[in-house]
Amino acid sequence: MNVEVRVQDILAYKGDALIVNLFEGVTKPGGATAAVDQALGGLISQAIAQGEFQGKAGTHLLLHTQGKLKAERVLVAGLGKQAQFGRDAVRSATGEALRLLRRHGCRQVGTILHGTGTGGLDVAEVAQAITEGALLGLYTFDRYKRKTDDDDHRAIDEVSLLLRDRAQMAEVRASSTTGQIVARAVNLARDLVNEPSNYLTPQDLAAQARAVAKAQRLSCQVFGKRELQRLGMGALLGVAQGSSRPPVLIVLSYRGGRGKQPDLGLVGKGITFDSGGISIKPSEGMEQMKGDMAGGAAVIATMAAIGQLKPAINVTAIVPACENLPSGSALKPGDVVRAMDGKTIEVVNTDAEGRLILADALCYARRLDCQRLVDAATLTGACVVALGSIRSGAFTNNQGWMDQVRSAAEAVGEKVWQMPMDGEYDEQIKSDVADVKNVGGRKAGAVTAAKFLARFVGETPWVHLDIAGTTQAEKERGDSPKGATGVPVRTLIRLAGDLAQKKG
Ligand code: BES
Ligand code: ZN
Ligand code: ZN
Repeated sequence: MNVEVRVQDILAYKGDALIVNLFEGVTKPGGATAAVDQALGGLISQAIAQGEFQGKAGTHLLLHTQGKLKAERVLVAGLGKQAQFGRDAVRSATGEALRLLRRHGCRQVGTILHGTGTGGLDVAEVAQAITEGALLGLYTFDRYKRKTDDDDHRAIDEVSLLLRDRAQMAEVRASSTTGQIVARAVNLARDLVNEPSNYLTPQDLAAQARAVAKAQRLSCQVFGKRELQRLGMGALLGVAQGSSRPPVLIVLSYRGGRGKQPDLGLVGKGITFDSGGISIKPSEGMEQMKGDMAGGAAVIATMAAIGQLKPAINVTAIVPACENLPSGSALKPGDVVRAMDGKTIEVVNTDAEGRLILADALCYARRLDCQRLVDAATLTGACVVALGSIRSGAFTNNQGWMDQVRSAAEAVGEKVWQMPMDGEYDEQIKSDVADVKNVGGRKAGAVTAAKFLARFVGETPWVHLDIAGTTQAEKERGDSPKGATGVPVRTLIRLAGDLAQKKG
């Protein structure tokens, strides 16, 4: 699907549908919607007057134009209450409107720039939000489905952003391009998460990272088993030893800054399938564990966007990847492994494998002298219990850095919630036989997992995002279809941009 920007009067737009809008509770349409209403002989105001359409978020009014407009149909999208209006609402409304029009078989759709009048947003930010909403909302994963003619396979070919003022063209084009880069990165992360684990092994994930590096001219290193042994990554090797597929450590680097070290290190959990290992999971829902590399996918996809947006900082992504499987050679409860920094870990539960592989990856990030760290990981079921699928858990050893990550997340509409890190929680991961153990009991499971990771980051400002609940959507919502969401790619891209601006 292609997104384009053109200067055109909406009444002259030729295509399958034209999208206009209405705020909740507005009884007399204004601006573009009023012009369309007038051309349609008052059909929209009539629907409003009869209480058929109130402009609520997520609702629509679809009308055929019967030759009164150049477009075949008009879709009035409800934008919700004006007080809650912003870029998130634009992204959502666009995603939902376009999915509806796709179901109706539309291929070419024009849209006005919502909210640039009474909504108070500037055209550039709206253009980016619409572009993102379109590409994100129309995302599908149908690679393994036979092509048929049914609704599932209808597609929108082109979305046109209709601009009134030619003077804004350059600015709007640029921000729409940014929106495309961001959305394509999010969709790459979604693809990797949705991909079944027999098609996305640790080796395949490394190949994907190499492809990103090649396309964006980043540097890419992939360490295999031999090198991991030499680096002393006993925790990553331990988790991987139950599988016939060897582990890899993927390192992608972008240089846009002046210094030598990475200004920002992004670490992502890359378990391409998590069966739990010897501490095996119940079979119900286990298929979702093909997405246990969502953190890794997110940081690789973020690097793809960074390679195009070129912020003036250095960014390095580190992804430890392997499978967590039971077998005769698998890690067993009670085993002790040694991480790269020499710390020993008692493996009480082989299903708490994410923190093991991240321990080595965080040690490696420190070896590279990353100035700040963010890790993203589908780490704990406990985080899903605490925050559900709405917010990711956020944990830190440095409040100032946390505030920056939170403001980036806030700005792009990916919700996070800061969780506590009191020293008292450390008690729960004390081991009788090693320096630390990999589980802290039933209480505060998301916190003790973060506490475990904190042992491996030292003094480096670090934020851990537990995305176990937010990486997969049970149903479609706004700019996210059912399945992989691509969280937290948008946050990480934004964070890199914010950091570059702050430094520059
Ligand atoms: N990958 C899981 C966490 C998870 C759960 C992700 C649900 C997505 C949805 C992780 O490796 C895991 O199994 N964690 C255990 C830890 C426990 C054994 C301390 C958990 O949360 O049950
Ligand atoms: Zn697990
Ligand atoms: Zn896991």
